[in-house]
Amino acid sequence: MTSDNTVYLDNAASTPIFPELIAQYGPLLRDAYPNASASHRAGYANRRKIDDARDRLLSVLPLPKDQSNVVWTSGGTEANNLALLGHAAAVGSADRVSAICSRMAHPSVLAPLRHLRDAGAHLRLLRNDNAGRLDLNDLAAAIDDNTTILSFSLVQNEIGVIQDVVAIRSIVDRHAPQALLHLDATQALGKIDLSTLATGADLLTLSGHKIHGPAGVGALVIADSNIPLKPLIFGGGQQRNLRSGSLDTVGIIAMSLAAEKICGLDSQFHNHVRVMNQRLRSGITKLVDRRRGSVAVVVHSIEAGSPFIVNFSLSGYQGAVVTRALSERGIIVGAGSACSSESVRASPALKALGMSDNVAFGAIRVSFGSQNVPDDVDRFLGGLQDVVTDY
Ligand SMILES: Cc1ncc(COP(=O)(O)O)c(C=O)c1O
Repeated sequence: MTSDNTVYLDNAASTPIFPELIAQYGPLLRDAYPNASASHRAGYANRRKIDDARDRLLSVLPLPKDQSNVVWTSGGTEANNLALLGHAAAVGSADRVSAICSRMAHPSVLAPLRHLRDAGAHLRLLRNDNAGRLDLNDLAAAIDDNTTILSFSLVQNEIGVIQDVVAIRSIVDRHAPQALLHLDATQALGKIDLSTLATGADLLTLSGHKIHGPAGVGALVIADSNIPLKPLIFGGGQQRNLRSGSLDTVGIIAMSLAAEKICGLDSQFHNHVRVMNQRLRSGITKLVDRRRGSVAVVVHSIEAGSPFIVNFSLSGYQGAVVTRALSERGIIVGAGSACSSESVRASPALKALGMSDNVAFGAIRVSFGSQNVPDDVDRFLGGLQDVVTDY
């Protein structure tokens, strides 16, 4: 519950900043303004803080600390663009790129890849089963020694499915050892155990506002300084010329502290999230519709996925209408449709699960953050029952 009594369960979209971080944030905002690239003492002091932030971030990742490079970006979207378009720039031209990705990838992965395909790149989107798990036979058939990059989300942002990246890595090593493996860990850091899953990443995307840090800051971690990548943003040559622009010292420090904090949460916290997840899964099966009796529920998130995300559809109910009605009752969750200015269309990722438009339009995404308590789930379930009753 938030300070204004709202139940906030849309944490896959954005999380509230850790309260401890808010206390540190004010003094940082006040004091950390000198330009970290300046050649005076104050600039140098901020540069040291950014180096510490880099070390702090790398300390929670299972990547080689001495070889890894962190490029601070404006968020996960820019980090994904840098990984994919920066790779294309490094290989020389789009027509030398041969990329493999999932149909369920985030738009900040799919859109740059489609942009490259329009410019001549070869793009293969893999099949998945109806739980969202990638078809590894399709991967083995698609990959070859021309493949230059593969990009997958560790945790898919709408349904929370976790990919078997260990198996993916071994297929890449066998069939295309020259290719880069880019993993989008935006929804994964601090939410699932990355100790084996992220080790195989050549490039790793992270975002501040999904881990109880600020929005507008993210990172692309490059696991080996020999990995070729070219910049998308040109200017003063900051960040080893990979991303020009004055560094956001405050955002970078705050994101690194958030990463450290979320990754330091213990198994008790993760059990607490699993308990809320189960409470929700069981509660939605008990909804009653006055006219039709029980409500048919289709749960799109498998239990083996991220415990932080539960996506489901109520048959006969529109997700966007339900989420709006819930928000009028002070309960904030996500819906499964993407709005553009002209139209509302069913989420392409949900359609890739094989859902009909109707079911995809019905999707509701509940996502947990570290601030949530079981009472939030109960209030959500109570609100949802009221919305179903009034529908
Ligand atoms: C899997 C995934 N990748 C990338 C992004 C984009 O991150 P940002 O909002 O920091 O640009 C998101 C945000 O929704 C996401 O869920």
